[in-house]
Amino acid sequence: MSTTGTAAYPADRSALPELVARAVELAERLGFDQSCRPEQGRLLQALAAGAAGRIGETGTGCGVGLGWLLAGRRPGVRVVSVEREAARVAAVRELFAEVPDLELVHGDWTAIAGHGPFDLLVLDGGGNGKQTAAADPERVLTPGGTLVVDDLTPLTAWPPTFRGGPDTGRTVWYRHPALLTTEVRLAPDLATLLATRRP
Ligand SMILES: C[S@@+](CC[C@H](N)C(=O)[O-])C[C@H]1O[C@@H](n2cnc3c(N)ncnc32)[C@H](O)[C@@H]1O
Repeated sequence: MSTTGTAAYPADRSALPELVARAVELAERLGFDQSCRPEQGRLLQALAAGAAGRIGETGTGCGVGLGWLLAGRRPGVRVVSVEREAARVAAVRELFAEVPDLELVHGDWTAIAGHGPFDLLVLDGGGNGKQTAAADPERVLTPGGTLVVDDLTPLTAWPPTFRGGPDTGRTVWYRHPALLTTEVRLAPDLATLLATRRP
């Protein structure tokens, strides 16, 4: 998530995947500014292309990250996204009505566990250990499956801190015995954490 994410998209959308362009337009129309940035979207697209099994997301928002996932996923791979705000769920259901193998679930992020396990799971609205509990990787991921946690400031020291205290939203993943965790810097001010379940 980024509070400037929607605004990071160019006015000329011709180079974007069509579903992403549509979702950015919806986000603008609804005044939703927390879409994932294009740098993150391209990472999601690339990771989605590597998933042979299910792909999941918590926090649909207006469907921008979902659009990137759909643009990358292989034919036949099912994608499930959970969102707690009913109006957003309805809007994205309408926006992507013709997209096959896509399920939009209205509910709390914890509902995602009932739709997995996932080869790729993006935690962008609950489950990421920042403000809510962290998802249980052994429940939600296939062996070898990967969790993605977006919108981190790049790591500069260990142990990491956030607002003067321990950054438990990050260390919960690094210290999890079932995971191999790292992060990639996507921009000078933006990093994404990737955690793969040990086979
Ligand atoms: C950062 S935005 C999602 C952006 C979107 N994934 C994208 O890439 O454009 C977070 C979304 O998560 C939703 N959300 C927050 N807490 C949630 C929860 N506990 N369960 C389900 N959705 C939640 C919010 O309503 C919001 O739409």
